Amino acid sequence: MPLKFIDQFDLKEKRVFIRVDFNVARNKSGEITDDTRIQESLPTIRYALENKGRVILASHLGRPKGKRSEEDSLINVGERLSELLGQDVLFPEDCVGDSVRKLVHGLREGQILLLENLRFHKEEEANDGTFAKNLASFADVYINDAFGTCHRAHASTVGMVPYFVERGAGFLVKKELEYLGKLLSRPAKPFIAILGGAKVSDKIGVIENLLSKVDAFLIGGGMSYTFLAAQGIETGSSLKEAEKIHLASKILERAKTRGIPIYLPIDHIVAREASTDSPVEVTPSSAIPVGMKGLDIGPRTLESFLRVIREAKTIFWNGPLGFFELDSFAQGTLAVAKEIAASTAVSVTGGGDSIAAVKKAGVEDKISHLSTGGGATLEFLEGKELPGIKAMESRN
Ligand code: 3PG
Repeated sequence: MPLKFIDQFDLKEKRVFIRVDFNVARNKSGEITDDTRIQESLPTIRYALENKGRVILASHLGRPKGKRSEEDSLINVGERLSELLGQDVLFPEDCVGDSVRKLVHGLREGQILLLENLRFHKEEEANDGTFAKNLASFADVYINDAFGTCHRAHASTVGMVPYFVERGAGFLVKKELEYLGKLLSRPAKPFIAILGGAKVSDKIGVIENLLSKVDAFLIGGGMSYTFLAAQGIETGSSLKEAEKIHLASKILERAKTRGIPIYLPIDHIVAREASTDSPVEVTPSSAIPVGMKGLDIGPRTLESFLRVIREAKTIFWNGPLGFFELDSFAQGTLAVAKEIAASTAVSVTGGGDSIAAVKKAGVEDKISHLSTGGGATLEFLEGKELPGIKAMESRN
């Protein structure tokens, strides 16, 4: 069945269940520090309300593993949503049960209700049949706009879906599939992938799938030290995944066979510790002195990265190129963000840290698409089918 979208259904007076991903970043006191995911869900929610649906929103927050906790309550999210929409958002104490059912049945057209955290019930992640059926019994139409959770086969993303004849995706999922889909199928060339972040292991699948599609990889951040170690280069006490060195050298070999350049740091900003009071040095080469940690790409590396970015017509970026939380190690990441923003290439950035970096650089409006997915975006680019999308396309 081809994937349908929310604007293909008549929502008038119907109860519309919208699975959103309101798994937002919070500080220690539970305040929302980044509401991008709420903002990005607004077009779908507004569409359902304006088209006279009775809207039931559902999401998870954090990983409470079946236990209720105040800190993982969606109450702050409900309040933020209410401010953004300029209307009341009903907020029951739970996501299933008789009291919730009563509220759901009392919803009038144009009204909205946000269920409490789905993961307060372990049945959500277990994709339990009864739990899925209970959720499904609340609504007439099922919409999935939770792109960031589409790689999870849970009750709200997979189990409840077959109960609906009218089911499809929201506008955020549509936008994500369009932008990410274009990276895999018809990217304007040259297409480059900029990868950073701590671990090679998180990005192996993406690198392997993109090897046949990109014209170059630029690799920085923690993962670059594992690649340097694979070339026998000294990396001091930098982050490294010793057990992935072999894999990194295989990737380097495969890229060489295919003629795809992998740009790695040729110099670094280093310090003994990632702290503000540790003196900072620039290395003259790609080697890092014993006892020092690589914490940002150096100026010559940055220049070479910027040159490649300037030529690109399509850019995918995931993962910071240094410890950008501290200003002394943020220069590489922020300069790359600004260069991407200044380019006319189609640019897609994914992952919480890269989006935080883009925001720190103040250029979020100049990136073609900020993907709301972390793991979901990476799995899509690995070429994997996302269970949440597949569920909506499957015949019952
Ligand atoms: C995310 O933040 O990547 C999604 O909300 C999925 O969360 P999870 O990794 O806890 O399943």
